[in-house]
Amino acid sequence: MSFLKTPFFIGKACLPSNILYAPLAGCSDLPFRKMSCRYRPGIVYCEMVKIDALVRNDAHTYKLLDYEPGMHPIGAQICGSKPEMAAGAARILEDLGFDVIDFNCGCPVDKVTKDGSGSGMLKNPDKIGEVLSKVIASVKVPVTVKIRAGWDADTINAALITQIAEKAGAKAITIHGRTREQGYKGPANWDFIRDCKAVAKEILVIGNGDIFSAEAALACFQHTGCDGVLVARGTMGQPWIAEDILSYLMGKEAVARGVGAVREALLEHFEAIVQYQNEKQSLLDFRRVGCWYLKPCLGVKPLRIQLNRATSTTEVFSFIEQFPWDSVELSGDNLFAESEG
Ligand SMILES: Cc1cc2nc3c(=O)[nH]c(=O)nc-3n(C[C@H](O)[C@H](O)[C@H](O)COP(=O)(O)O)c2cc1C
Repeated sequence: MSFLKTPFFIGKACLPSNILYAPLAGCSDLPFRKMSCRYRPGIVYCEMVKIDALVRNDAHTYKLLDYEPGMHPIGAQICGSKPEMAAGAARILEDLGFDVIDFNCGCPVDKVTKDGSGSGMLKNPDKIGEVLSKVIASVKVPVTVKIRAGWDADTINAALITQIAEKAGAKAITIHGRTREQGYKGPANWDFIRDCKAVAKEILVIGNGDIFSAEAALACFQHTGCDGVLVARGTMGQPWIAEDILSYLMGKEAVARGVGAVREALLEHFEAIVQYQNEKQSLLDFRRVGCWYLKPCLGVKPLRIQLNRATSTTEVFSFIEQFPWDSVELSGDNLFAESEG
């Protein structure tokens, strides 16, 4: 059975495939998406934006939504709990040209949940329906929702929310197979995704959680029967994972990604950062991004130290270029799975 869909339609939005890249706060910025888009995922998302910040024209929030024409299809994600305000925010995003608007009901951070936003919405499923209905009535682009399995192990309600979202007219629902209480701890439980798929009639079900490899993507499809998968931490330092999953699902030979690919990607990603940020911010971003790419590399400690101590972006490029990459080996273990938000 083929799980791959090329193209993949979310409402009227035509995506190249059903292998999607997640919104990642503090990570899925323009340079990150530039790297991601080289490998043609079904969609890339900007990180979540707060609806109140968007409607009051907060400049920092608008910057999170920067994108280039070549990044379509691109999604934006709103976070908040007020239906009217969410509708206003969605209209702004539609005007900015986003192809899909997602509603965040999964963010576990206290600062976000304390006013009932993010995963706080899971405590109030009817409110999710209310927000979705308002948003859907205000825009023409497809509206989707992203949830967790439930607030905690005693209040699992993803299947109920799937039905509510479908009734409200959402075109897809992504389920992260962990509860809010779990944060990012422990394995994601894909049974909850399967339960959502079992009750879904029209709404597409997207599986999410612990997809760090092509094999894991296939396993998620097989386990849940989901319509698509959303890769989150697995995209950090592996911008090519969509291409790998695609090849694997098509039965093609895996693309060999050696140390040379890591070196090239580091340079390309850093170049994208330099083009986008000032020198100081670039250096800070390099440290974060560099860690992702160097994670599976054995023998790069001296380079890590150099990257952390660098005082200019020029220095960083020469450190990478002059590093003896021939002596570096890639760990066979899947170390990407260890990163936490
Ligand atoms: C650093 C970080 C930032 C995240 N930011 C967002 C976000 O802005 N919106 C969202 O819906 N989920 C966000 N998530 C959750 C992911 O999209 C995803 O649901 C979660 O990491 C589980 O998938 P994974 O196991 O493949 O990483 C974030 C996760 C991490 C680790």
